[in-house]
Amino acid sequence: MITLESVAKTAGGRQILNIALLHIDRGERVALIGPNGSGKSTLLRVIAGIVPPDAGCVIFEPPGTQAYLMPQVSFGFARSVLKNLEIGLPASMKSAEKRAAAEKTADMLALRPLLKKHGNKLSGGETQRLALGRLLTAPKSLLLLDEPTGSADFESTRLIEDVLLAACEKNGTTLLFATHDARQAERLAGRIILLENGRVAKDTPAAAFAETAGSGWGKRLTHEQHPQTPDGLPEI
Ligand SMILES: Nc1ncnc2c1ncn2[C@@H]1O[C@H](COP(=O)(O)OP(=O)(O)O)[C@@H](O)[C@H]1O
Ligand SMILES: [Mg+2]
Repeated sequence: MITLESVAKTAGGRQILNIALLHIDRGERVALIGPNGSGKSTLLRVIAGIVPPDAGCVIFEPPGTQAYLMPQVSFGFARSVLKNLEIGLPASMKSAEKRAAAEKTADMLALRPLLKKHGNKLSGGETQRLALGRLLTAPKSLLLLDEPTGSADFESTRLIEDVLLAACEKNGTTLLFATHDARQAERLAGRIILLENGRVAKDTPAAAFAETAGSGWGKRLTHEQHPQTPDGLPEI
């Protein structure tokens, strides 16, 4: 579905992305993890076509595949939540169908009580649910989500995860998302990519991540999020 070949990006005199080769198959769910500044957002923005790479290329299969990005700082448009949710729907849809689809999405993401509120007057977690809802009102083949639960509380996080997982499974969506949370990566993804200094430091099946996190930041993250008891078994 996506192949990156020799993709490099320099900013402020520093190389912030350097990806020799990265391939993501159709229908894969891939988590991008890494410390602040490791290049997660830049990589997503390069794939979304918002940031042009200095070198290399991003190839989509089939050509012309539309990538939909939920940015790290999500936003609502200054119109009702209902209208915000309808924005993502094809213009050809009748208004009653649009409304029904938007209300269905609102129910899934617990936005029904907010339908009349302005989309730019929501809390951070509500805004993230709205931003995701706008993307999920119609099926997508490729979603790029930049820390989609970064402002969400525990309940909203689990709701977003459940809705996202169900939508990806139902529609065969290819998902690439950035997160700081290794547990979330394991819950949502089949594969975890660790970025460090703009490079792929680890690329592993999610099930093997805890054993293979290796050195540096990845090891510290794994140690914090998978604490080991003295006999080596993960704590429950
Ligand atoms: N437009 C830019 N100009 C200068 N530096 C940038 C720009 N965009 C990103 N960077 C730098 O590139 C690095 C990677 O940023 P980013 O992709 O946002 O990382 P992450 O999402 O992993 O926190 C950071 O050090 C950041 O400061
Ligand atoms: Mg980022």
